[in-house]
Amino acid sequence: MNRTVSRAVVLLASTAVATTGLAVLSTATHAAEVGENCHVVTTGTADWAMRTSFNSYLEGPIANGALYKYKGGIEVRDGVETSGERATRQFTWPVSGSNDGEINFGGGVHWTGHNHYTGDDASQAPDNFILDLDISNPTIEFNGTQATLLVDYKSREFVDTTTVAGFLSGTQAELATITLDEAIDLTTPSVTVIGETVPTAAGVDVMGGFYPAGDALAPITLNLTNEVVCDEPQEPETPETPDATTGSSEGGILGIVGILAALGGIGAVVYNYLVSAGIIAAY
Ligand code: HEM
Repeated sequence: MNRTVSRAVVLLASTAVATTGLAVLSTATHAAEVGENCHVVTTGTADWAMRTSFNSYLEGPIANGALYKYKGGIEVRDGVETSGERATRQFTWPVSGSNDGEINFGGGVHWTGHNHYTGDDASQAPDNFILDLDISNPTIEFNGTQATLLVDYKSREFVDTTTVAGFLSGTQAELATITLDEAIDLTTPSVTVIGETVPTAAGVDVMGGFYPAGDALAPITLNLTNEVVCDEPQEPETPETPDATTGSSEGGILGIVGILAALGGIGAVVYNYLVSAGIIAAY
């Protein structure tokens, strides 16, 4: 089925998409149209550094300094972009989908530090970070200005400064609650909102228990674009083009009728001549 994307719904509300024949939806009609042949597709990003002081600690001398033979750091993957370092480190997470009341982001970030291994076999190093935290695929569930941040995570538990402990892990676990500066409205063409994030009890554990409950994580900024995508109605079947040259369609039939009509006209002329010449009697 063909699909038409109407971008910037409100900006184009007074015009029609001439090339497709699809009227662009106004915000007023948007909600009614979505759910019939149309639905909203959300794209964009979330800027979320997780926690600025944590990035500064991790990329500094405490977690990855001269004390350690093998250093860790911060790695991003699957579409997450990063800029800055230490306290200015930022992560930009790409939207991967949306639903009513939910926006999904893709990609992951991996933080490693405090490497406990001192031997010469470098292949041992990756498994010896006492601090080994991975967060991926954030989701924001929202309702008005209240929202929840869910993530997939894997984090070595903090036991003590010499133990490489086992991993805690979770899938779409509630990491933090978010208070937004305004409600997210996916029926508008663009959304820019900022949220304050506070870790849940589970979020505190994911961070090694170093933050007291209620201590804020980094703010999150959502920059979203919403498009209404509609399925075009099926085109009616195009009738076969008449083709007199092949004689295989209506054109051929019309041609034969025309020839017979022409022959009839010639017959009438001959008949009139024969009557007028007295060769035959008129009937
Ligand atoms: C050898 C093991 C570790 C040592 C020696 C260590 C040491 C430290 C120290 C000294 C600080 C205070 C930093 C500051 O005030 O600037 C700190 C903070 C912190 N550590 Fe560790 N740590 C270790 C393991 C871990 C692990 C396994 C985690 C788990 C995620 C972790 C998470 C944190 C966090 C979240 C902070 C607070 C950073 C901030 O926002 O300021 N640490 N650590």
